[in-house]
Amino acid sequence: MDESKKVIFSGIQPSGDLTLGNYLGALKNWVKLQEEYDCYFCVVDLHAITVKQTPANLRKKTLEMLAIYIGAGIDPEKNTLFIQSHVSAHSELSWLLTCNTYMGELGRMTQYKDKSQKLGDSIGSGLFNYPVLMAADILLYNANLVPVGKDQKQHLELCRDIANRFNNTYSDTFIIPDPYIPSTGAKIMNLQDPSKKMSKSDENPNTYILIMDPPEVIRKKISRAVTDTLGKINYSDDQPGIKNLINILCSIKGITPEDVVTNYADKGYAEFKKDVAESIIDELAPLQEKINNLLSNKSYLEEIYKNGAIKANYVANKTLRKVQKKIGLIPR
Ligand code: TYM
Repeated sequence: MDESKKVIFSGIQPSGDLTLGNYLGALKNWVKLQEEYDCYFCVVDLHAITVKQTPANLRKKTLEMLAIYIGAGIDPEKNTLFIQSHVSAHSELSWLLTCNTYMGELGRMTQYKDKSQKLGDSIGSGLFNYPVLMAADILLYNANLVPVGKDQKQHLELCRDIANRFNNTYSDTFIIPDPYIPSTGAKIMNLQDPSKKMSKSDENPNTYILIMDPPEVIRKKISRAVTDTLGKINYSDDQPGIKNLINILCSIKGITPEDVVTNYADKGYAEFKKDVAESIIDELAPLQEKINNLLSNKSYLEEIYKNGAIKANYVANKTLRKVQKKIGLIPR
């Protein structure tokens, strides 16, 4: 651990297959930031159980997620990679912070509001409290920066509010984290309905690209992606389907929307879509190979998450003890 480096914390739920949205919104940026920061990347299995999971599938997806982190280029030697439930401080701090969070604050979270609209009274209380667990994740490691997609911005603001309130009540304890939200790729949209975000929980597989999708599937999904009848490649809210594909291309290639508009000034949608599909395939092919290799080496993955848990527990428990003491719990 390099004490002089600032700290990053982020995580992804192992609640299904990873989409291109998760990859471009979060994971790809983690890879970029890992040299500069002391990073904690967590597979947040406790978040995944806010909705019903099949036990065997949850175990499988948790391990897959770890393989995806490494396959995407996160170096397990330089970063702390671990599984959330292996560090019990997450659950413990979550309770302590729950007692310092208002129902009103949690009820205002748009993700909760959307889900409760769909689920009504049968919405689990875990979905309501989930942003507090997320705050605990971040605050335990004194994270300065949290790289996430746009949909997590509101949760991060709540985390800052919770931390500030705690600091004001009990004296300076937590570092107030900043979000890191990429300029392109922060919100990759649904390929069939570009007014919605691309989501792994969507029922229709044509709406998303999975990072393990084979090339022919990627080509098919992109060629079927909804566009418009204007026939011109512009970066405009009037052309949300095209805008989304431009964002995908920019995020993969590290270019700007203006570059894309210039390059495709006199080209049609079919050619543009073909190039978008090939750029995704080129980006994902090496990842897919690495991930498949890692998944055939379970003992290596086990070694990584066990070592990660030792490092994470050490830092997290230090913060937890400090918080317990400040609140007035008798030190053990
Ligand atoms: P999750 O698992 O839903 O998503 C993981 C990451 O992917 C980003 N993301 C997207 N980015 C761009 N376009 C999309 N369509 C898209 N969909 C998802 C998310 O913003 C996220 O960065 N609560 C978090 C997990 C979490 C966490 C944390 C994150 C738990 N604790 C602490 C940061 C810090 C979640 O459900 O993400």
